[in-house]
Amino acid sequence: MGSERDSDWQEYYERTAGRPPRRTLLLALERFGAGKGRSAVDLGCGDGRDTVELLRRGWRVIAIDAEPAALERLKRRADLPPGAALETRCERFEDANWPAVDLVNASFSLPLVPPERFPPLWTKIERSLKPGGRFSGQLFGERDGWRGEKAITFLGRAEVERLLQRFAVELLEEEESDAATPYGKPKHWHLFHIVARKSSALTRSPAG
Ligand SMILES: C[S@@+](CC[C@H](N)C(=O)[O-])C[C@H]1O[C@@H](n2cnc3c(N)ncnc32)[C@H](O)[C@@H]1O
Repeated sequence: MGSERDSDWQEYYERTAGRPPRRTLLLALERFGAGKGRSAVDLGCGDGRDTVELLRRGWRVIAIDAEPAALERLKRRADLPPGAALETRCERFEDANWPAVDLVNASFSLPLVPPERFPPLWTKIERSLKPGGRFSGQLFGERDGWRGEKAITFLGRAEVERLLQRFAVELLEEEESDAATPYGKPKHWHLFHIVARKSSALTRSPAG
């Protein structure tokens, strides 16, 4: 990931091991309410802090991460529920295809694509959501301290709002803070925390 940004995902997984599910995922789950048989894709799942929560609640999950170590760690987790409906895929999410799902979750992962690959990725996400399905996750703002990294996408608020035009926005929280990364390095964070529900009026085209 270059000099500013840390790239050792193995170390990231070790440093964040045992952390609870992300707030954006929990809010999306709360909005879905009770109900069984729902499906999700977890993009950039890491070692599974969100994936495990979904499985624990009876969801079917396709967990996608480009890093083999992430998926190995996820599959070895002691808190994986028995009989969990988990499929893991080791690939970049901008290249991946997945079936129609109720939830696309992407916690702190979606910005990690070059800007030219972001628009088709977002279109793929939107199209893969069933009517009434949700997106939960984070995007990076244009004042983020990693701005300048070519392999990361940074967006202004107006651009984020445009992405969410066809969604009912349930959370759009902009955060600017100075706090250490999981590696202990100081960083200015500019984040958008998002939970949004796809309008039922939108029809689904095949995600591939
Ligand atoms: C900051 S971690 C977040 C992990 C987890 N979602 C969480 O909330 O803790 C980002 C994860 O995304 C994965 N990743 C980064 N870019 C990716 C890409 N283009 N395609 C698939 N996975 C990617 C990394 O391997 C890493 O596991």
